[in-house]
Amino acid sequence: MRILAFETTCDETSVCLLDDDRLLSNIVFSQINLHRKYSGVVPELASRAHLEKISWVLGAALSKAGYKRPFFSGGRLSGPKIDAVVFSRGPGLPGALLVSRVAAEAASRLLGSKLLGVNHLEGHFLAYEYEGGTASRRIKFPCIGLIVSGGHTELWTAEGYGRYNVMGRTRDDAAGEAFDKVAKLLGLEYPGGPSVEKEALKSGLSGFDFPRPYMEDTFDFSFSGLKTAVAYKLRDMLGHDFYEKRLRPSPADRSRICLAFEEAVSDTLVHKTARACADTGIRRVIIGGGVAANLRLRRKFMELSDKLGYEIGFAEKRYCTDNAAMVALCGARRLAARATGGSLDIAPDLAVVSWP
Ligand code: KG4
Ligand code: ZN
Repeated sequence: MRILAFETTCDETSVCLLDDDRLLSNIVFSQINLHRKYSGVVPELASRAHLEKISWVLGAALSKAGYKRPFFSGGRLSGPKIDAVVFSRGPGLPGALLVSRVAAEAASRLLGSKLLGVNHLEGHFLAYEYEGGTASRRIKFPCIGLIVSGGHTELWTAEGYGRYNVMGRTRDDAAGEAFDKVAKLLGLEYPGGPSVEKEALKSGLSGFDFPRPYMEDTFDFSFSGLKTAVAYKLRDMLGHDFYEKRLRPSPADRSRICLAFEEAVSDTLVHKTARACADTGIRRVIIGGGVAANLRLRRKFMELSDKLGYEIGFAEKRYCTDNAAMVALCGARRLAARATGGSLDIAPDLAVVSWP
């Protein structure tokens, strides 16, 4: 089974070809440089940039997979048949989602292949299965899924492929969003996650302490208070108008703040996941999404695993942030289960639901 997949939910334009669990190509064009000067993703710029780049990224993915250019001749592809075209329906930015939707439909019509719209967050979950360029690991069910990305923080119980129940989700800022906003407060580059991680690594011991939003009565998450705690700390150190005046803490303090913030986010994610395991009796956890690339978070989860014997699986770092490979896998697993139905409409607020 050969699958062509498109991903343009936020600020990465990505296309891949998956052949029976083996990636033939997975091209990711990041818009980071475009958004950097705004310290965050500007939706309209993102949509336009996807539109400008999608043909190039598609061409690169096809030629890396061995298709000759021009790859369409008289509506027919010169090369092995592509059985299905898959795209992320959402969640994501509306204009950005449209680009994949239109490109995928055009490709499926030209190729005469099936068209499937899948859930981007399910992609982050399934990304765990890639090892190198092949989806050779299998998620063992039942398990707890923790998705930590720029727009979402979600805890699920997963009973099988396409059988997901949401236990808790973001009430305000997602974990990645909190990283991005704290980076902005500290004058660090976008995207905030990698910048904060790099700064935190410069510091041994923090000396600062930020609250852990455990919210014991729910599995939902709230990271906006933690971001505000960092802002208050900076205000106390630098004055109430530190942000307007672009005042920054010393490099040593900045590193210590980054470390303390990372600790607070990681402790919260570990604590709530451990509680979800205790509550459900499930001892396996799969973690995906951009924030899952964070080394401190990975280390803390490994400590949990050593302490309580839970099986913890992280997506490989390169598959944590957005990519089309994870989208292709959603299609592959769905087709293998013969569950091909579902809407093709883009859905910016799409929640994770079980397959139709
Ligand atoms: O999953 P993703 O690529 O996009 C969304 O679906 O949102 O996640 C992007 C988010 C950003 O907020 C970014 O700052 C964060 O993931 N991120 C990280 C790291 N790498 C990316 N956060 C913490 N540590 C990292 N190493
Ligand atoms: Zn994502």
